Amino acid sequence: MNEVKLRVPATIANIVCGFDVLGFAVSAPYDEITLKLSEKPGIRIHHTDNFELPEDPALNVAGVSLQALLNEVSSTIGFDVGIHKNIKPGSGLGSSAASAMGAVAAANMVLGNPFTKSQLLYFAMQGEKVAGGVAHLDNVAPCLLGGVSIIQSLQPPDAVSIPVPELHVSIIHPQIEVKTSDSRKIIRKEVPLKSAITQWSNVASLVAGFCTGNYTLIGKSLHDVIFEPSRSILIPGFEEVKARCLAAGALGGGIAGSGPSMFMFSREKETAERVVREMTTVYQSLGVDYKTYVTTLKQTPLI
Ligand code: HSE
Repeated sequence: MNEVKLRVPATIANIVCGFDVLGFAVSAPYDEITLKLSEKPGIRIHHTDNFELPEDPALNVAGVSLQALLNEVSSTIGFDVGIHKNIKPGSGLGSSAASAMGAVAAANMVLGNPFTKSQLLYFAMQGEKVAGGVAHLDNVAPCLLGGVSIIQSLQPPDAVSIPVPELHVSIIHPQIEVKTSDSRKIIRKEVPLKSAITQWSNVASLVAGFCTGNYTLIGKSLHDVIFEPSRSILIPGFEEVKARCLAAGALGGGIAGSGPSMFMFSREKETAERVVREMTTVYQSLGVDYKTYVTTLKQTPLI
């Protein structure tokens, strides 16, 4: 096998309370990445989408991640990479993570799977650094592993997958761009102990809720008292969307990654559809363009 084609999922980092330590994969949207092993050294990238991302491998998230991988293997091989992105950059839906991890996972496959999970996370993290200015694993890990990931360590990269019950996901993506780097500039650098205690209580309870399939506990734990108050200012209609979605039966939700997308978990598909209708009602009244998805938490790994 010297050519691999992968569907690479969008991911939602933080899962409200777990800033930089929790993330999950969704079934839609997804990018499509084709990677071919070549005897010609170097990395060649071709985008077939309309996002006008740089194709120079030194400036492209997939290119930077693949270079990190190539540094560990022979310099006499190369990769030809075709990328069709459906996950819009700057959406908060793990667009850069999909490029980074999709390319790295495909390269690992054509090379006969020589790398460990930790190495694959490391390579993809180099691409994430280029995109967001900081290293974080809470998109690339669930992109690779599926389901919900807990980031156990950045150095060395390590992530743990936990069991999760069936969950439906409603997403609204306002058509404005919020760069992760900008959204990280406005977060507080110091946290009062009381807020920290509330936050890690919610993180621990959320993980317990996932592991035991306790939907009530999942819903009760989806609160962010540290980052949401400042970040939500960048998202039109945030409070109204959230209130309406909860009233429509959503378990809970909040900002997708660093925004501007918002997501909500629901137990039933019908509820998720009702929730997305509430989201669109708010955005129609605000006159802000948007895109929506009703999807599921993706349980299967990428490779
Ligand atoms: N944990 C990161 C952040 C995710 O919230 O900045 C970015 O998608």
